[in-house]
Amino acid sequence: MSQLYVLDHPLIQHKLTYIRDKQTGTKEFRELVEEVAMLMGYEITRNLPLEETTVETPVTTAKTYMIAGKKLGVIPILRAGLGMVNGFLRLMPAAKVGHIGLYRDPETLQPVEYYCKLPSDIEERELIVIDPMLATGGSAAAALTLLKNRGAKQMKLMCLIAAPEGVKTVQEAHPDVDIYVASVDEMLNDHGYIIPGLGDAGDRLFGTK
Ligand code: PRP
Ligand code: URA
Repeated sequence: MSQLYVLDHPLIQHKLTYIRDKQTGTKEFRELVEEVAMLMGYEITRNLPLEETTVETPVTTAKTYMIAGKKLGVIPILRAGLGMVNGFLRLMPAAKVGHIGLYRDPETLQPVEYYCKLPSDIEERELIVIDPMLATGGSAAAALTLLKNRGAKQMKLMCLIAAPEGVKTVQEAHPDVDIYVASVDEMLNDHGYIIPGLGDAGDRLFGTK
């Protein structure tokens, strides 16, 4: 079974409060989502392997460490996942970015795929799939399946807020994929929205309705 990690760093939790607040406008919402994505990215990469190296300081040779050739890829689920990309890239500017376009049909709540463009070598990369919301779990599960069908072997899922239903769906469909969230909320409402959640992440990020 995959692991669920709730990233409870005080800065993440503090900023998440402002993200949830309905009074927070588009500009601030966008900035906060980017900041939290960076903080979550910091936590998620804690176990990247290191290798020893040396560097010439102005004084002498120092024995130091660098990340050991790990190739990363970040895969936002469009559209709301886009809001987390830049935060992540501020930590790992060389990561390749793939895009998966999915929207949730408002009636059936089933994910509908409309776009997919991935780095050519995803089978060699550790992929971090990002989306602010894990609600029914349909979109994330479909994105992970699509990536596996294209050859992905190692993946993590990173979301701001999850509903218990979404966690269960992803864990059952993808027991090999660990899930990292800032919060597991109470439940879904009848329209598949996370309660208490933050509303519609895409609309709040891009100022649409
Ligand atoms: C939202 C969100 C997830 C999905 C989660 O996207 O960003 O992708 O819903 O719901 P699920 O777990 O029930 O599948 P949405 O479909 O609203 O599209 P958008 O990002 O284009 O706004
Ligand atoms: N998608 C969102 O943007 N918000 C939710 O609460 C559920 C799905």
